Amino acid sequence: MTHKIAPSILAADFANLQKDIEMVNASEADWFHIDIMDGAFVPNISFGFPVMKAINKHATKPLDVHLMISNPDQYIQQCADNGAEVITVHYEACTHLHRTLNAIKEMGCLAGVAINPHTPVHLLNDVFKEIDLICIMSVNPGFGGQSFIENTYMKLQQLNSICQIKNHQPLIEVDGGVNTENYQKLLECGANVLVAGSSVFSSSNPTETILSLKQ
Ligand code: DX5
Ligand code: ZN
Repeated sequence: MTHKIAPSILAADFANLQKDIEMVNASEADWFHIDIMDGAFVPNISFGFPVMKAINKHATKPLDVHLMISNPDQYIQQCADNGAEVITVHYEACTHLHRTLNAIKEMGCLAGVAINPHTPVHLLNDVFKEIDLICIMSVNPGFGGQSFIENTYMKLQQLNSICQIKNHQPLIEVDGGVNTENYQKLLECGANVLVAGSSVFSSSNPTETILSLKQ
């Protein structure tokens, strides 16, 4: 399978969102990565459903929604109603992860789980077969533009072993500090969805950067 590129809208120009959405529509990108932060689970607030709805109005590619919020269960319905095709919740924010994953799937969405840099991959073992996408956070969630954490490569390798043992292959996403320098190694270690925010939107030619990450 060829890998997917999901530009993170958090790094887009919020005063010209439509322009950046159209750039992504016309590019080789596969998904829109939508970061929702609540100021409680993470120490930052990004944007909420009205903005997501506006993005969805112009986006011609699936919305990959990353919920960095406490109590994500409360917002799954609203997320699906506003156009999410993938809904990713944090392992660290879910008391009843099995139930949450099934609630996401009942909405007809792909069910994702994100794990923070300090969370070992084996903690997903007992719900592994319920998961459509695992997002390995390669920065501490909350902000764009942070440096990539090198331990991510090891976590990807550990995840590969679990996939083999469980005979189940979820999508494997890496989020945070992904750029044209490290993407190749991430793919070699088994990632197949790359989120890229500042490396795309801060580059002189975002369309070209997306193309480079796709090749
Ligand atoms: C971090 C977010 C990321 C972020 C990635 O909390 O989940 O999706 O937007 O941005 P970069 O690629 O700039 O690290
Ligand atoms: Zn994200």
